[in-house]
Amino acid sequence: MRLTMVGTGYVGLVTGVCLANSGNEVTCLDVDPEKIAKLEKDICPIYEPGLTELMVKNRQAGRLQYTLDKKKAYQSAQMIFICVGTPSDDKGHTDMTYVDTAAADIALAIKELGPDAEPKIVVVKSTVPVGTTFRVKQRIKEIVGDIPFHVADNPEFLKEGDAVNDFNKPDRVVVGVESEEVGEKFKDLYDPFVRNGHPVFIMDVLSAEMVKYASNNFLATKISFINEMANLCEAYGANINRVREGMCSDTRIGHAFLHPGLGYGGSCFPKDTLACIMMGDKAGVTTQVSNAVHGTNERQRNLFFNKILAHFGGEAGLQGKRLAFWGLAFKPRTDDIRKAPALTLIRKALGYGAVCQGFDPVAADNVRKEMGDTLSLCDDMYQCARDCDALIISTDWPEFKSPDFEKLGQVMKSKVIFDGRNLYRRQHLGEIGFHYYSVGRSPVKPV
Ligand SMILES: NC(=O)c1ccc[n+]([C@@H]2O[C@H](COP(=O)([O-])OP(=O)(O)OC[C@H]3O[C@@H](n4cnc5c(N)ncnc54)[C@H](O)[C@@H]3O)[C@@H](O)[C@H]2O)c1
Repeated sequence: MRLTMVGTGYVGLVTGVCLANSGNEVTCLDVDPEKIAKLEKDICPIYEPGLTELMVKNRQAGRLQYTLDKKKAYQSAQMIFICVGTPSDDKGHTDMTYVDTAAADIALAIKELGPDAEPKIVVVKSTVPVGTTFRVKQRIKEIVGDIPFHVADNPEFLKEGDAVNDFNKPDRVVVGVESEEVGEKFKDLYDPFVRNGHPVFIMDVLSAEMVKYASNNFLATKISFINEMANLCEAYGANINRVREGMCSDTRIGHAFLHPGLGYGGSCFPKDTLACIMMGDKAGVTTQVSNAVHGTNERQRNLFFNKILAHFGGEAGLQGKRLAFWGLAFKPRTDDIRKAPALTLIRKALGYGAVCQGFDPVAADNVRKEMGDTLSLCDDMYQCARDCDALIISTDWPEFKSPDFEKLGQVMKSKVIFDGRNLYRRQHLGEIGFHYYSVGRSPVKPV
């Protein structure tokens, strides 16, 4: 099939590349000339393991091209996937500008082709408030009149850092359609990806849109829940790691997404939880669970930061202290720094006069663009910790899991670690002379 991806971000690029790899002819469209220039040189504008290799292979095979030319991209496609950003403000209002612009551009291209062209299928792949696909349909219809076209919703469930694998082997594919005929097209498109027997669910458009919010909101709920349990553990001297083991071995509960930490970040969970709250407000439906999940998540970073403050004797104590931060993106194996917990902590620390230096295996360039020279970025994790009064760990990159503690102790000014991912054995850290704080476990002092 001839497909166009609107937007070459984490979702659009991965989707386009993987669908080209299954034999489709794919055009990836973006409005950002810098991104397209990089892509045309086979440079991947995001960090995503395995993506560059597939980009090169499929471009060389002639199945994948990149363009800024909207008209050509839209007119040549049988299916158009809208994969643009849908950011939200702090209250959860979704910014529909990018979706609306794409819809208007698509409509103009369809109109110019006229009524005899094959009807296009316009697919909303972005995560959108329920009803958006019909809003897109309405916007296109206002411009094209009676020229036929179809709409569909096809939410994406890939995880950054493992996106290629997730797209190629999805747990499920969800598609919302208005006709059986369009549903069949999606079954053909996704057939190569579900040979493992995983299902393609064809359903109505509104339910498909809601599946995405319900899924992300549930995962966010698990994270806030375990963080609340961790906080109770700390208050009563229990150890959340032991509690997790005891709790999660129950097959009804399971282990996934029940790791305590600094709360969720990234471009999806925070906005999708807020979007549910906003959709509830608009419809007069109370969303107490979503509200609590969001509130718990916001508090979690503050609680962690309060441990840092308390260690240094309060706000004034942070003035002039040098802090090292390991892990700056919102999670490991991605360069995405949107709503990253580390950046919240860094901004707070800077606000109290601390001097901050950071290390991340892949996110430094994005941090530099966002934070300028407010913090120093290091190429090496030990260099980052040099002369620091404390080390703060925000993500669990593999290299952070077993550092050379002797070297770390030698380069740091004070042997103090605030671990937001519970990477180390507490007792051991105390024995080798560290002051060690983690989440849901009592702090240890050097023995
Ligand atoms: N990032 C994820 O892990 C993930 C997972 C599932 C779903 N989603 C959802 O997918 C959507 C996209 O997310 P993302 O992280 O890929 O966003 P992103 O910000 O990485 O990428 C969006 C891209 O769209 C481009 N764009 C904007 N307007 C355009 C237009 N009119 N024409 C062509 N290109 C245009 C931008 O330049 C940008 O490159 C969001 O709704 C998000 O919630 C994201």
